[in-house]
Amino acid sequence: SIDERVDDLMSRMTLEEKIGQMNQYNGFWNVTGPSPIQGDAAKKYKDLRKGYVGSMLNVRGVDEVKAVQKIAVEETRLGIPLIIGFDVIHGYETLSPIPLAEAASWDLKAIKKSAEMAALEASAVGINWTFAPMVDVSRDARWGRVMEGAGEDTYLGSKIAYARVKGFQGDDLSKENTIVACAKHFAGYGFAESGRDYNTVDVGTSTLYNIIFPPFQASIDAGVKTFMNSFNELNGVPATGNKFLQRDVLKRDWNFDGFVVSDWGSIAEMIAHGHAKNLNHAAEIAINAGSDMDMESYAYVDELTKLVKEGKVKEALIDDATKRILKVKFELGLFDDPYKYCNKEREEKVLGSKEVMDASLDMAKKSIVLLKNNRNILPLKKEGQNIAVIGALASDKTSPLGSWRIAAKDSTAVSVLEGLSAYKQNKITYAKGTELVLGTPDFTTEVKINTTDRSGFAEAKSVAKNADVVIMVLGEHGFQSGEGRSRTELGLPGLQQELLEEVYKVNSNIVLVLNNGRPLTLGWADAHIPSILECWQLGTQSGNAIAQVLYGDYNPSGKLPMSFPRNVGQLPLYYNYKNTGRPTLPGKDIVFWSHYQDEKNSALYPFGHGLSYTQFAYENLKVKQEGDKFFVKIDVKNIGKVKGKEVVQIYIQDVFASVTRPVKELKGFEMVSLLPNEEKTIKFTLSDKELGFYNNQGNFVVEPGKFKVFIGGSSKTVIETSFEIYE
Ligand code: IFM
Repeated sequence: SIDERVDDLMSRMTLEEKIGQMNQYNGFWNVTGPSPIQGDAAKKYKDLRKGYVGSMLNVRGVDEVKAVQKIAVEETRLGIPLIIGFDVIHGYETLSPIPLAEAASWDLKAIKKSAEMAALEASAVGINWTFAPMVDVSRDARWGRVMEGAGEDTYLGSKIAYARVKGFQGDDLSKENTIVACAKHFAGYGFAESGRDYNTVDVGTSTLYNIIFPPFQASIDAGVKTFMNSFNELNGVPATGNKFLQRDVLKRDWNFDGFVVSDWGSIAEMIAHGHAKNLNHAAEIAINAGSDMDMESYAYVDELTKLVKEGKVKEALIDDATKRILKVKFELGLFDDPYKYCNKEREEKVLGSKEVMDASLDMAKKSIVLLKNNRNILPLKKEGQNIAVIGALASDKTSPLGSWRIAAKDSTAVSVLEGLSAYKQNKITYAKGTELVLGTPDFTTEVKINTTDRSGFAEAKSVAKNADVVIMVLGEHGFQSGEGRSRTELGLPGLQQELLEEVYKVNSNIVLVLNNGRPLTLGWADAHIPSILECWQLGTQSGNAIAQVLYGDYNPSGKLPMSFPRNVGQLPLYYNYKNTGRPTLPGKDIVFWSHYQDEKNSALYPFGHGLSYTQFAYENLKVKQEGDKFFVKIDVKNIGKVKGKEVVQIYIQDVFASVTRPVKELKGFEMVSLLPNEEKTIKFTLSDKELGFYNNQGNFVVEPGKFKVFIGGSSKTVIETSFEIYE
């Protein structure tokens, strides 16, 4: 058995070799070139040859991976293969939509398939471990990494976490097309104060257990093999050195038997946090707290042996961490064939193949959300139209790839203009209007936004004037969201808002196509622009997907996974808020209730919102109790003229409880496809799992009392009934 093989290997390992397995290095030299002889790279190379490296990240491509693996397997004493990690976040070379966009599809099958395709490409270039999915719930659109998650809701986030883990890992990790997944970042990273990346996190037990933890638990249910801890401190203790999180909750209460990798340098960062006095101390804290593998801090490889010899760290902890890591390597089949992911022919065949391209297009169409369609401008007529296309993002072939696309080459996305050109019976005239960015943005440096050059405005207005319809493609550049990309203003960046208002003056028949990695504040657009289509950053097939939706060849079915605020000042904003003691206006002009003087409390576009080119009617909501279960059903009918898909959502409210509950909580959803006039009955079951919650002692309880049930096509437009759980 694998356990026996692990034990046998462990019995032959020195302490240093075990600690070596717990050390992960970033790709450090041109591995297929000459060996490094100096500096950091030389140290890493030396450590690798001694067997003091268990994993590497950012080494990719069959030739490169083979070269490092060869050193590990052929030059070290025990020949233990490396596990090769990489941020395969939304595809490897062929990109699917950013994860937030995929979440907008609410289509778990498609999301799983997308992860499968990412695993297929990644595994063909030597990678066998992805640092995904990011399952951090976040309610703050200022945080740039909302693009990488599944949005604000823990229920939807849990379902998506499960689908993504299954997609990456499949049912058999030893297959050549499956890779190890990593649930990250444990825990609380999405709750960074004021939406500023890496910032302090202070949350209570209720939020931790009811909101933050469930997607991590769902990842374990799906069999995830690794966790990554996080950069942030949680209630005063950095997550990397947090014993409560890693040993008590994850490994004891949840029985997690995989391993935990630190985030990049996060062990060393405990010094800056003010938690460790030096690297040696940081290593001691991290291992005692349950971090099994050190990514790029050099803390374990350089300090752990000393700490064990001095008796500050028990060798049993090293054994436990090493065992966990080796087990995963055995499960991947790396000991049977260390080069199983290094097949040149497969690499060439799989990258950019029709199978991955088709899946990317399918996912992209499903991720689009129709926010508004007042004059029914959409879908566009297929002939005889004079269409003006405006905006720098309309011709951009790089920005739609989004952030976290280390292996995808610039200019490989289909632009909106290219996508539209497939519909040849209409005349298209393009004007940029304004540059969005200056220079060529990249992954590591700040994006520079154009705020002065309006020289293209006149041309944009002139093409708009003579058009039947104006398509304005506006939003954020792909590198304006992602890690280290927090923002305090969430309007259209640069001169785009001004351009939109100028064009509107000459032709108001506008379809606003949004490209963005997070919710934006769109108050003016909502009040003036008749049609708004949320298209996120949709990856390689972006323009094709957008064109097919604009022309109605695909009827949009996406629903927002995050609330869109009216104003940044409302953040954090989420549909499942608490009522407060003063939820309503006490009398005309009286101020003493929970509100703002200058803005509504509600979202502009709420969680779960998304329109279709058809309409759906909901009626006959019924609840029946059998034993301790409640069976809910509702009839949903397509009352429009075309076929369409609707995501039917069920929410509950536990009206009073020992720990107050939100005004609404998503507890189920189902996607239904209906022809015009067709009606279907949709059924849900509510049992303890849906009706209970974690109290402030971290215990799961179901309390008697009144429950409301809401069903509808968003968190806002819902019909309601109620039932009671008796003592
Ligand atoms: O996986 C990432 C993590 O999410 C953020 N820091 C770097 C890691 C490896 O690239």
